[in-house]
Amino acid sequence: MENVVLAQSEETNEGNKNSKNETLSPLGKYEEGMPWNPVEKVILERRSTRAFKPEPLPDGMIHRILEAGRFAPSTGNTQPWKFIVVNSPEILTEMEKDAIKMAKFFMFFIDYTRGNILRRLYILSWVKWIIRFMKNELNPVPFALMSQIAQGKAPVFHGAPTLILMVEDKRGAGCPATDIGICGQNMILAAHSMGAGSCWFGTTKLLMYLPKWKKKFGIKYPYRLNDCIGFGWPSPKADGMVPRETQLVQWYEKGMNDAPRIKKQGE
Ligand SMILES: Cc1cc2nc3c(=O)[nH]c(=O)nc-3n(C[C@H](O)[C@H](O)[C@H](O)COP(=O)(O)O)c2cc1C
Repeated sequence: MENVVLAQSEETNEGNKNSKNETLSPLGKYEEGMPWNPVEKVILERRSTRAFKPEPLPDGMIHRILEAGRFAPSTGNTQPWKFIVVNSPEILTEMEKDAIKMAKFFMFFIDYTRGNILRRLYILSWVKWIIRFMKNELNPVPFALMSQIAQGKAPVFHGAPTLILMVEDKRGAGCPATDIGICGQNMILAAHSMGAGSCWFGTTKLLMYLPKWKKKFGIKYPYRLNDCIGFGWPSPKADGMVPRETQLVQWYEKGMNDAPRIKKQGE
């Protein structure tokens, strides 16, 4: 199969052809060398959208997105999730304001990348211990994003007119966070297949440090906010393609004593 990642485009599928007149393979069939089918095309073309038109998606579409999430697989079919749809402009504005406030608050104490050298060294001397316990939250990528948000250089929700909060039931079997990830990906792909844009907004968790938002959304044990996804019509301005690493995949095809074959995936 052609090993390319398709660039994001705005064409729609009409039967087995899209507006670029590309032929797509039928679903439920495989032959060597056949073109992508519509599901693969949706998976490969999806990109995070960070520029939205202000009008919200129709309610019916949001229902279909939620339906795609509801039908996601989960460990032992425990379905450890609840969804909260927020499309009130007033609430969205308040959430954006409060998330920025919280980013500023935390960054005041822990941003070791800013200020004079003495301040940086002082902060780093103890923040490195916190990082050990909060490896994921304070990984350099979210750390840099929080720093940018605190400096007013990046927005939190990018003007998405609808947010779906993914609330996790901590009692789920196995790893409920994985179940939520799968559920969110179902939603995102469904949205993309209907022409909508989406982006996960991990920084939404900043709001959970404010009791006001936990109360507002009724999030308390055994539930916690896992993550949040913004949805809306993509504005014409789209981000460029994000590169993907080539993976060296081990293929075990022979006996117990044979070494695997290493195949490159993505070149
Ligand atoms: C769990 C999760 C949290 C994310 N949080 C944010 C976020 O807070 N802000 C943001 O702009 N993008 C966020 N993203 C989007 C990623 O940056 C994006 O998926 C990644 O760069 C790959 O780009 P692509 O989605 O366009 O393929 C998040 C993605 C995931 C899966």
